[in-house]
Amino acid sequence: LPSCQLCLCLGTSVYCDDAGLERVPALPADTTYLYARFNRIGAVRSGDFSGLEKLKRIDLSSNSISWADADAFRRLPSLQELLLPENLLTARRFISKGFLSVGVHLRGFISALSLQDLKQLQFLHLSDNQLDFIPVPLPESLRSLHLQNNKIQTMHEDTFCDSQEQGQIRQALEDIRLDGNPINLSLFPNAFFCLPRLPTGRF
Ligand SMILES: *[C@@H]1O[C@H](CO)[C@@H](O)[C@H](O)[C@H]1NC(C)=O
Repeated sequence: LPSCQLCLCLGTSVYCDDAGLERVPALPADTTYLYARFNRIGAVRSGDFSGLEKLKRIDLSSNSISWADADAFRRLPSLQELLLPENLLTARRFISKGFLSVGVHLRGFISALSLQDLKQLQFLHLSDNQLDFIPVPLPESLRSLHLQNNKIQTMHEDTFCDSQEQGQIRQALEDIRLDGNPINLSLFPNAFFCLPRLPTGRF
């Protein structure tokens, strides 16, 4: 595969850090870990990760990603870590192909992105982007959500906890970072009752 000439394939890990890439390289079907940090990748397309059923970690930190197709991360049954910090993602571009401006559509398209289908996802790191919305619904398996240094000003009360289900406990989700955003978390007193720990951020 071309990626193993351009990058270093070691076992089932593919190392493509700082390789001048402008797009996600074609990957061997048995890839489990992809490291493609410090490149110039601008978009993630629907076909980029298709059929990679063993993929556990995608690390695209420090690229120029401003676009991800709605189904770019679909059908990745083994994915545990999706790491996209230090990119140019905005909520709207992250979640949709078209021009959408209202919350209802945002929710619809976030569902279309299907993070929820990532049944094994534990780490979702989106710090240092331009996001103004927390992507929902968040998979139940999630342990760590990093959204520090974005543009999030507000959130829905049901983002983390289901307000209809007062007994709910989301034991896994213990690391939420919202510091470095303009949101005042005191304004959402009912949004955190199911969490083992409060998010970091301004209260
Ligand atoms: C956040 O909002 C609360 C309630 O309105 C207010 O008391 C608090 O000072 C605000 N905190 C910041 C950091 O703006």
